[in-house]
Formats: sequence, C-alpha cells, structure tokens
Amino acid sequence: MPEPVLDEEGQATLEAILERRPAITRPALRQKITHFINLTMQARGSTPGGKDLVLEATRFVISPAFTPHLDAVENLGKYRDRRSYKFDKDAYYTAPRIVKRWPSVAHQPQKPPREMKVLAFNSSPRKGGNTDVLMDEALRGASEAGAQTEKYMLQKLNIRYCVGCRKCKEPGYEKICSLKDDMSDFIYQKILDADVIVIGLPIYTGREPAQLATFFDRLDCERRFDTHEDRVTATRLIKPGEKTAMVICTWGYVNDAVDVYDHIVERMMVLLHGHRVETVEALSACGFAGMLHGFDDDHRAIILRYPEELKKAYEAGRALVTGE
Ligand SMILES: Cc1cc2nc3c(=O)[nH]c(=O)nc-3n(C[C@H](O)[C@H](O)[C@H](O)COP(=O)(O)O)c2cc1C
Repeated sequence: MPEPVLDEEGQATLEAILERRPAITRPALRQKITHFINLTMQARGSTPGGKDLVLEATRFVISPAFTPHLDAVENLGKYRDRRSYKFDKDAYYTAPRIVKRWPSVAHQPQKPPREMKVLAFNSSPRKGGNTDVLMDEALRGASEAGAQTEKYMLQKLNIRYCVGCRKCKEPGYEKICSLKDDMSDFIYQKILDADVIVIGLPIYTGREPAQLATFFDRLDCERRFDTHEDRVTATRLIKPGEKTAMVICTWGYVNDAVDVYDHIVERMMVLLHGHRVETVEALSACGFAGMLHGFDDDHRAIILRYPEELKKAYEAGRALVTGE
C-alpha cells in the first residue's frame, strides 16, 4: 500500500499520533491508518488528505480506549479544558456523568420473577462506590419485581488464583475444583443455582480488575469432559440457555466517553457467552474520575447526584427478571 498523499498538517497529525504510541507498535499502526486513508480518498475522490481525515482514520483503526488521547492531538486547548474536572472542584461537580443502557436483548424469562434468583458480583473494592450504587439500583429493580437478589463484593471473598492443574478436565473428576476456598465452599453452588448473574466492574488500567479476571479463570472449570464408551465428550455444569446476565461497567473518563470501554464490556459478555450465559442487559457509565475520584465531599458515590441516570439501572434490573 503506497503512502497516502497528505498535506503538511495531515502529515504532522499522523506523526503526532504515532509519537503517542509505543515505538514497536508504530509501523503496524501507520500501515493501518494509511490503508484507511487511501481507501477513503479513493472512495471520495479527494486528495490530498488533511488533519480531519487522519483523525477519522485513526479513530476507525485504533482501540476506542485511546480516543481521549486523540483529543489532545485534535485541539490541545479543548483537551485541557475538558480535563479541568481533575483540578477544579466546580468543574468536577458539573462534569457529566452518563449511564448508557445498551439496547436490551428480547428475552422471555423461564420463570415468574418471584421464583428467580439474581446473583451479583461486584469487582470494585469500593463498597458504596459508583459501580456498587448502580448494581444496587439494578438489584432493587429486580427485587421490586419479585426476584430474590444477593450481591457479593469479590474482593471480600477468599478466591484463590487458578493453579492450572486441569484436574477439572479429567473425565470423571468429581469435585468442581481442586482448590479449597470460598469458590469451592459455596460460590460455585450459588452460581449453579442462580437464574441471573450480574457482573459489576470498574475499569482498572484499561481492563477489568484483577479479581474479576481471577473469578473468570476459576469459572473455567464448569466446562468438563466425560467418557462415553470409546469417546470423550464435552459437557458443562452450567446448562446452556439456563441463565441470563447483566454487565454493569463504570470508568473514569469524562465527557463524550460513554463508549470508550465498550470493548471491555463486550469482552465480559463474550466470556459469559462462552459459558452459555447470555447477557440481556448492560450499562456503561462514565465520569467517575477527577478531583474526588468519583465521590463527593461526603464520600458518597457521585452518581447518587444523577437520579435520571440511576433510573436506567433500576429499569434495566426490572427488565432483567420480567423481560419487559
Ligand atoms: C487502579 C485504577 C485504575 C484505573 N484505570 C482507569 C482507566 O484506565 N480508565 C478510566 O477511565 N478510569 C480508570 N480508573 C477509574 C475507575 O474506573 C473509576 O473511578 C470507576 O468508576 C470506579 O468505580 P467505583 O466507584 O465503583 O469504585 C481507574 C481507577 C483505579 C483505582
């Protein structure tokens, strides 16, 4: 693919973007951006490409988690203004906090709400933090519709790292897992008994917190193998289609950042899907960083000041068990 024809500002923008990325990744990224620019110029019949086209191409090819950094390349003044919630209390209090409810997946719960068990795991260590408050609102919606709800703070549980022994994959292995901890004592059983699983996560360093990664590592053992005469067949402890899920994710970035970590939310959905648990509701919520790190001066979650946003969690929680 030939180098695109860029004007001086377009070229400088491309170099500034690449400069912000690890050196070892730059050649591949340059190639991808260049490819997009060339195809777009061909389609639009325009040349040379300018700054806007380079930014458009970059937004298209890179991880959305990097897009807030692009604001700095696009307009440094605007970028600095938009970061004032970090250093200025008025800006902190007036910054937008947005909850996005993903379009729900139509589903018909297999039981009436009063017979349903909703089991929630919060991987934020902050009890009463923003993830926790949103989860409680969702659980309130489910509970007021009649469901039984229960929530665990993952960090308060004794959950050991998976040791990779693979005993759970030996045909005929009778235990769920070889490790002795809260997972094997009661959490696996609670998961097997639940109708709905709710996963709450704050974004930590661009991904899910370590305790949630460990939780999913430990859930791998529900996929088993059995021998049947001369064949080994795959089987599962979680019966396909038996459970649904909701994912609630919060993060720091403020302003137009409500899609920035949707790929991580999606990753959680893919993991659940791998266990044949279909996510039917999801919330992405942003704006929980800055001067008071997502709290107010009374150390209450800042999302409590946004009742309209909280309502979305309540409604999603209700729909989770009613299907409406
Ligand atoms: C160790 C750590 C790493 C974080 N990394 C990110 C990040 O990469 N991107 C981001 O937008 N926010 C990041 N944050 C901010 C949290 O995602 C945000 O404050 C979250 O909503 C907190 O949820 P909570 O109030 O439920 O604890 C980080 C916070 C911590 C403590």
